[in-house]
Amino acid sequence: MVTKDYYSLNEVSEILGKSKETLRRWDRDGKFSAVREPISQYRIYKKEQVNSLLEQLSIDYEDTIDNSVTPIKEFKVLELFAGAGGLAVGLEKAGIKCVALNEIDKWACQTLRENRPHWNVLEGDIKSFNFSEYNNQVDIVTGGFPCQAFSYAGKKLGLQDARGTLFYEFARAVKEVNPLICIGENVKGLLSHEKGKTIEGMISILDEIGYNVVPVKVLKAINYKVPQKRERVILVGVRKDIDIKYEYPKPHNKIYNLIDALKKGELYNCNVPKSEGSKYPEHKKAVLDLIPQKGYWRNLPLDIQKEYMGKSFYLGGGKTGIARRIGWDEPSLTLTCSPAQKQTERCHPEETRPFTVREYARIQTFPDEWKFMGSVSQQYKQIGNAVPCNLGQEIGYSVIKFLNEYYLSLSKPK
Ligand SMILES: C[S@@+](CC[C@H](N)C(=O)[O-])C[C@H]1O[C@@H](n2cnc3c(N)ncnc32)[C@H](O)[C@@H]1O
Repeated sequence: MVTKDYYSLNEVSEILGKSKETLRRWDRDGKFSAVREPISQYRIYKKEQVNSLLEQLSIDYEDTIDNSVTPIKEFKVLELFAGAGGLAVGLEKAGIKCVALNEIDKWACQTLRENRPHWNVLEGDIKSFNFSEYNNQVDIVTGGFPCQAFSYAGKKLGLQDARGTLFYEFARAVKEVNPLICIGENVKGLLSHEKGKTIEGMISILDEIGYNVVPVKVLKAINYKVPQKRERVILVGVRKDIDIKYEYPKPHNKIYNLIDALKKGELYNCNVPKSEGSKYPEHKKAVLDLIPQKGYWRNLPLDIQKEYMGKSFYLGGGKTGIARRIGWDEPSLTLTCSPAQKQTERCHPEETRPFTVREYARIQTFPDEWKFMGSVSQQYKQIGNAVPCNLGQEIGYSVIKFLNEYYLSLSKPK
């Protein structure tokens, strides 16, 4: 048995995006069988077998899902922590009007103003704004608040206990505005943050200010027309006086790959435009030159693996995101805020370089017309921080469906 021909359970879990428990079950059921490493008896998988399953999973399915819906009236959103507008663009594409956007970063604000001169960009720290002028004026409040720990005084977290955190500011804005529905967006890690206490606290605060939280869900961007394996937690609060069920957008069965992002096809009607981009330092480039498409650090000769990985070489886990070259026929791994960042390399499939700014923007499904302001690193940061526009659009449809039902229910005789 030659170890380099096999993947560990951890690696397969990361590559296929399936939990280890699912893989163990598939093995027990004979659906996807592992073999046992002779000494440790751990499950391992032949690489060829994994790659062919990966291909099968991304077969060009005919998409039978359509979440699109037309708003029956003009729906309005207040978007907090707006960044460069990934979510806002998506909501706008779905047909929702952005009445105001708050953001602290001056370059992100310039991006918003440059692309949408008519948008009301409220630049500055959210703490310095009072949103009462929007009271009962908007249907939706959204916001990707950065995740922070709370200090717990009592058993159940109340709004006042969260003071000083950005979630407090989000909740305060919701309270001031009194929208029909509010949507928080965050990284998947929010669910396990402080062993689940943080998300529990957020749910109890929304409850206190008059919102029922829909069971929290992780949405996978690849299921929403985004050629990237990004995952986001969505926290939806429905005002307690409303008796309409909110439903998450249905996942599409067509998966888009890197080729769909960068070349002319279903997602874009031309190849990706040329743009600026950062470079790898020489040493990193020499290492990444040795990696084939879809390969990562394990494809390096052992001595270079050890040197490149340093201490991480001896730690557990697949770490399939390190020294990774993305293949044309797979979705990109999650983009970060800086493309040459150590240990999260996502190299171009054919050239040994990070994705350019425009390639980054396409992998996040921004339209080519959307300009980013500031230095190249500021632009990468804005793009890496964003909710992919296509995911935002599908979330937008789900909200429109909910609001349509709500307003129709008002006109029905009781
Ligand atoms: C995850 S990003 C949001 C991305 C955005 N939803 C999008 O789709 O492009 C979080 C944003 O919150 C902003 N932010 C952080 N602290 C803030 C504060 N105190 N007031 C206002 N915005 C803040 C950051 O500058 C960052 O752009």
